Amino acid sequence: MPALRVPKREAELAKRKLKKLNLYDGKRRPKREGEFVLLPVIDDPTIHKLGYEVLETELHLRPERQIYRNLESVLAERLTPEELKYLRRYDVVGDIAIVQIPEVLEHRADDIVWGLRKVHPFIRVVARKGFHEGAFRIREYSIIWGEKRLETVHRENGVEIKVDLSKAFFNPRMKGERYRLAGLVRDGERILIPFAGVLPYALVIARYKNVKITAVELNREAYELGLENIKLNRKRLKGEIEFIHGDAFEILPELPTYDRVMSPTPRGVDALALTLSKAGRWLHYYNFVGEADIEEFRERIIDECSLQGKECDVRVKKVSDFKPHVFKVCADVRILG
Ligand SMILES: C[S@@+](CC[C@H](N)C(=O)[O-])C[C@H]1O[C@@H](n2cnc3c(N)ncnc32)[C@H](O)[C@@H]1O
Repeated sequence: MPALRVPKREAELAKRKLKKLNLYDGKRRPKREGEFVLLPVIDDPTIHKLGYEVLETELHLRPERQIYRNLESVLAERLTPEELKYLRRYDVVGDIAIVQIPEVLEHRADDIVWGLRKVHPFIRVVARKGFHEGAFRIREYSIIWGEKRLETVHRENGVEIKVDLSKAFFNPRMKGERYRLAGLVRDGERILIPFAGVLPYALVIARYKNVKITAVELNREAYELGLENIKLNRKRLKGEIEFIHGDAFEILPELPTYDRVMSPTPRGVDALALTLSKAGRWLHYYNFVGEADIEEFRERIIDECSLQGKECDVRVKKVSDFKPHVFKVCADVRILG
């Protein structure tokens, strides 16, 4: 994603000007580089006309932890400091708040709902989350307050995503990851996304880049929602999305190779050989790996590259905590030849 290289003494002024012009990208953090500051900007032709050097660089995303602190400070009115320690991270998807309430806070469920409504006055549903089930990775939820529905429209990275949490997988915490991938993609690329769900990756990438995406999803209900999402965002998308309903293991062998493949692989599924075989220049492969096994995972990818006669550079990045010492990771595989 682009950044402006601005002399340190001009940085504050330049930042204010960029904000005024709606060119400043508040999702990423600026970075000091000697006597210069790299200011994150959005990808827009105007940034080349401001008299500063424009660089392509990866800047850190801002943490989204602030909202959790807000809930904690609101609930400090009703919960003891000891109880506050048991508060878990929660998610907001559209107008639905999704919470985990540990047993020790069971008697505080009403207070937690009260706190959530205070921090997020727009929420209409509070649902308690259970576990992901089956190949379609759908979670169990129980609604503890508000309207009896799990369907909503979630806004993220400049797109609208219709989801129904009772029918299809969706994870709002991957927002930063989707934005990171959109930043790596170049206009003109052909991209393949198996395990595409309701299309969050495809929509965010097509929102920012003029690309041709082919996405594949097996869950019929996720597929139908994905089709609705293409319509819902039609006017915002720079790129095109072709969406195929079916089993990635049957469909992919029939498809050509693509510049880039992104595999938000369901947990417990091994699609490495399949997705790598369709990647011409890049594969972004998601997996769940124990802290101690990250190097082994990297070596497994290098071995698979050799088996397929590909020379690859593999970097494995931790994307989020999954459970103690286990991470959701993304292997960024660059195919050199
Ligand atoms: C981890 S979810 C990711 C969904 C979506 N990419 C997202 O991030 O919201 C995995 C998705 O793969 C789908 N899926 C599972 N097995 C599949 C298969 N064999 N072929 C195609 N899709 C499959 C599930 O229905 C689910 O939507």
